[in-house]
Amino acid sequence: MQPLAVKAVLAGAVAAGEVVRVHGWVKSRRTSKGGFSFIAVSDGSCFADLQVVADQALANYAEITELGVGCAVEVTGAVAESPGKGQDRELRASAVRVVGAVEHPETYPIAKKRHSFEYLRTVAHLRPRTNTFGAIARVRNGIAQAVHRYFDERGFLWVNTPIITASDCEGAGELFRVGAGEAGGESFFGRDTYLTVSGQLNVEPYCLSLDKAYTFGPTFRAENSNTSRHLAEFWMIEPEIAFADLSDLAALAEDFLKSVLRDVLARHPDDMAFFRDRIDSGVIDRLRNVVDFEFARLDYAQAVEILQSAGESFEFPPVWGRELQSEHERYLTERHVGGPVVVMNYPRDIKPFYMRLNDDERTVAAMDVLVPGVGEIIGGSQREERLDALERRMTDAMKEELWWYRDLRRYGTAPHAGFGLGLERLVMYVTGMENIRDATPFPRVPNNAAF
Ligand code: 4AD
Ligand code: MG
Repeated sequence: MQPLAVKAVLAGAVAAGEVVRVHGWVKSRRTSKGGFSFIAVSDGSCFADLQVVADQALANYAEITELGVGCAVEVTGAVAESPGKGQDRELRASAVRVVGAVEHPETYPIAKKRHSFEYLRTVAHLRPRTNTFGAIARVRNGIAQAVHRYFDERGFLWVNTPIITASDCEGAGELFRVGAGEAGGESFFGRDTYLTVSGQLNVEPYCLSLDKAYTFGPTFRAENSNTSRHLAEFWMIEPEIAFADLSDLAALAEDFLKSVLRDVLARHPDDMAFFRDRIDSGVIDRLRNVVDFEFARLDYAQAVEILQSAGESFEFPPVWGRELQSEHERYLTERHVGGPVVVMNYPRDIKPFYMRLNDDERTVAAMDVLVPGVGEIIGGSQREERLDALERRMTDAMKEELWWYRDLRRYGTAPHAGFGLGLERLVMYVTGMENIRDATPFPRVPNNAAF
């Protein structure tokens, strides 16, 4: 007999009375005086557990009454309408096989009903067994699948850009170096190489050949910011579109974000209800508002004026020509707009070399999408497609290094634009989790690369 997912049993995939086999891990067990044990079994296929009813006639009933949280079991039984409230199907067990017991249950690191998220990070190998991390894992996967679906349906090619690179796309110097002197003291690549901070530079050639492309993979930043929003290793979604300008890009970002959120809300009602009830009561309303809200658009210069006349005492006074700080971004999206906002046309001198210079020569065609609760979730720009303008913003070393990138401006250049969205920032936003370390299975942050 093929095992059936708990989700399928609960969804009514088989009729009451039919015998099925399920497997999973015990969430809880209680034994009644009437000679029954009730075992909640979870297999991760959905938020809900399946209630298994085992009666004392079973040969190993004594063993069953010893089952504790975390044990792995395989259950064969008949599907039945459940008299218990909140669930309409249960399994009347004809056999319960204990596949993996929990040795010394008092040592099981996640035996309690509730643990703090800080503590759970120290047992990251077991936290996926908790309701919260099971739900995060399903929603994270749901987002990733929705991203691929979105692009596939619109003719974007998924391009797998390299992880080992020789260039610093963002120019921020936050690079992890890939081993220097390998075998024999020689460098393997014959040059300095790093883990990529962004796939953008490598996705541009595919955009300028095949029109619509995206890269979605791991990126790395040796950022020393020990914050709740930064990881040293995170996944980035980076679409790139040809024959397009900044306003086309902002429209893509808005449509993309709305579509992915709509998709996840529709496909994960139970997980989302859990996040609303136990993590962040406003989370579903906030996401629905984004789906229905027309994103505001502000010029960076306007944004600075708004901040200056806000009458707020910001830690960093807003000044034209400086980065917007997190407190500024939060003010703009949460207080000024009350929804998502696209801030555009940032000062040239605070942005990377590849962003297209505007006619004022002081600003570049950059955009950030800011959302309530998180701040920056997307960063992107129109790219500098004019060779002379590009070269003016490159050092000699960069020109040499990025000769191939310059080539693209020489052979069939075209206006093009792209953005990057941090997957974990989006997972935080969708789940309401407040720390990015809980939005990725095994977080990499300063002084922590355990697991
Ligand atoms: O704004 P960033 O640095 O943009 C780029 O890297 C561009 N090359 C993207 C492009 O145009 N193709 O990063 C893009 C997004 C941010 O908006 C944020 O969501 C996320 O990546 N991000 C991080 N997420 C987690 N931890 C970090 N340390 C992050 N740094 C950036
Ligand atoms: Mg950015």
